[in-house]
Amino acid sequence: MKFFADTADTADIAALAATGLLDGVTTNPSLIAKSGRNFLEVIREICTLVDGPVSAEVVATTTADMLREAEVLKKLGENICIKLPLTLDGLTACKALSDEGTMTNVTLCFSANQALLAAKAGATFISPFVGRLDDIGFDGIQLIEDIKMIYDNYAFETEILVASVRHPVHVLQAAKLGADVATMPPAVIRALANHPLTDKGLAAFTADWASTGQSIL
Ligand code: G3P
Repeated sequence: MKFFADTADTADIAALAATGLLDGVTTNPSLIAKSGRNFLEVIREICTLVDGPVSAEVVATTTADMLREAEVLKKLGENICIKLPLTLDGLTACKALSDEGTMTNVTLCFSANQALLAAKAGATFISPFVGRLDDIGFDGIQLIEDIKMIYDNYAFETEILVASVRHPVHVLQAAKLGADVATMPPAVIRALANHPLTDKGLAAFTADWASTGQSIL
């Protein structure tokens, strides 16, 4: 399973990239606003921090304007993935970009039928939002299971990029279903490493080692 950081915070991205566990980055207009930085500048910087796909989202709502924006975004780095909304205009733009070999990420997916359309449009990634579905009383992880079944039925190559991930249990459930990617806030990636018994065990090992008076170095 690939791990993407869902953030536009370049310090966080650099720190995660240094662990060797980061496979890509996703951003959206809300995350760019939160960064307080210039969109094009921050995306250009992120592209230098990770080798994997960096999703940069269009903000236009018509196919023609999305494609014009994509032309600008594509120049920001060789690993740019154009993120498009799951609308008919977005899907039309996705098809055109996929046909020319540009990476695409279709976002704001909340149903399996929407995911089916994205795969037919040749999307590189589909982004179903599990957390936002959970928030309104639907089962976000069920959507991942449905999409996985449909994509397997037809051998679609579109990768399932689980988005709106809120906690480690989402990651566990998505991994058990065989989702290709999870994009997470950096805090969730870090939380995956935590376990109270690890902390307790390490404290005991450290104390016992100190009691020996020895040193390795
Ligand atoms: O970038 C898309 C997605 O991951 C948004 O997550 O937490 O705003 O629902 P959230």
